[in-house]
Amino acid sequence: MTPTFLSMDPPDHDKFRRITMRHFGPPTTPGRVAGMEARMAEIVTDLVDNMADRSRIDVVDDLAYPLPVTVICELLGVPPGDEQRFRVWVDLALQSTDPGLDPETQQKKRIEAGTELRAFMQELVDAHRQTPGTDLLSAMATDDGPEGRMPDEQLVSTGLLLLIAGHETTVNLISNGVLTLLRHPAELQKLRADPGLAIPMVEELLRYEPPVHFVPFRTALDDIDIAGTTIPAGASLTLVLAAGNRDPARVADPGLFIPDRANNQHLGFGGGVHLCFGAPLARLEAQIALTEFATRLENPRLVSDPPPYRPSPFLRGPSHLPVDIDGVLAPGKPLPTVARRMHFSG
Ligand code: HEM
Repeated sequence: MTPTFLSMDPPDHDKFRRITMRHFGPPTTPGRVAGMEARMAEIVTDLVDNMADRSRIDVVDDLAYPLPVTVICELLGVPPGDEQRFRVWVDLALQSTDPGLDPETQQKKRIEAGTELRAFMQELVDAHRQTPGTDLLSAMATDDGPEGRMPDEQLVSTGLLLLIAGHETTVNLISNGVLTLLRHPAELQKLRADPGLAIPMVEELLRYEPPVHFVPFRTALDDIDIAGTTIPAGASLTLVLAAGNRDPARVADPGLFIPDRANNQHLGFGGGVHLCFGAPLARLEAQIALTEFATRLENPRLVSDPPPYRPSPFLRGPSHLPVDIDGVLAPGKPLPTVARRMHFSG
């Protein structure tokens, strides 16, 4: 597949990231993410309403997956019915990273998923160019901004990057968040009593149980001295963000989950020029989902601990998270918008 800015160096990285960010965040499109907040709250409320009259839910299937996938589809302009189509191929792509498979099977799955996904996104780009809407894909397919239009192949890859990065990771943040809260019932009670705690809590979850455990495929451009070891120029590097998040030299009591931790410099969204593009969206979704879970579900209890995990070594989160509940309360007041924390960069 044509590389996206995820795997480029500056200046190409910066150019394509700017062309994409123009339609996603400030300064050109400051309202896109904030403008989705009410819709996110509505989706979460409906999902939790659907749990009424049930004694067992699956947090992944009933909340953590449908929220981000619906949000990213609406944001990009992917028709709701298409989710069933691309889910199969995205699963296949993730399966291809399973270290338990032999390289040939991994490669086969990757090629099949890539071919199907590319054709799917090309179809969408063509349709949006012909009949543009107010969504992100239409904007990118038709805009000739100051840096020109993104070439079509690049646009298809970038659309897929946003579609996949835009939900797979957030699913894990929400499921890891619920799992962590159920393992720390006192913190769950605190969130129930004070929904404002969701804001620092999501930051602590990104540190304590990061959805992206490592980023591969970096190369040292120079010799780099770290803690008495020289990484030679040209060496391949894998950046283990999850380990950095628990580095005792950076974080006090790194193994403890402290939702209101001060000065939380986590690496959950990476760092530097590749700092996560979608962080403001993911933060908002997780804050809303976790608050709704804490305030509306009565007496939630883990059915099995640990739950089953997805096979991916770098995207860490449960494949299913069964939870028993005693009931569902009526929706409460939404969180004050101004209190939410969003950071854009790009
Ligand atoms: C909890 C949810 C998320 C987590 C934990 C996460 C994590 C990350 C990390 C660690 C990186 C850096 C990768 C690297 O250095 O190679 C990254 C980059 C990126 N993320 Fe996210 N992400 C999340 C949600 C999202 C969402 C919702 C979107 C899209 C709307 C998104 C789009 C991207 C893109 C496009 C990049 C590449 C940025 C660049 O190379 O400049 N992510 N993300």
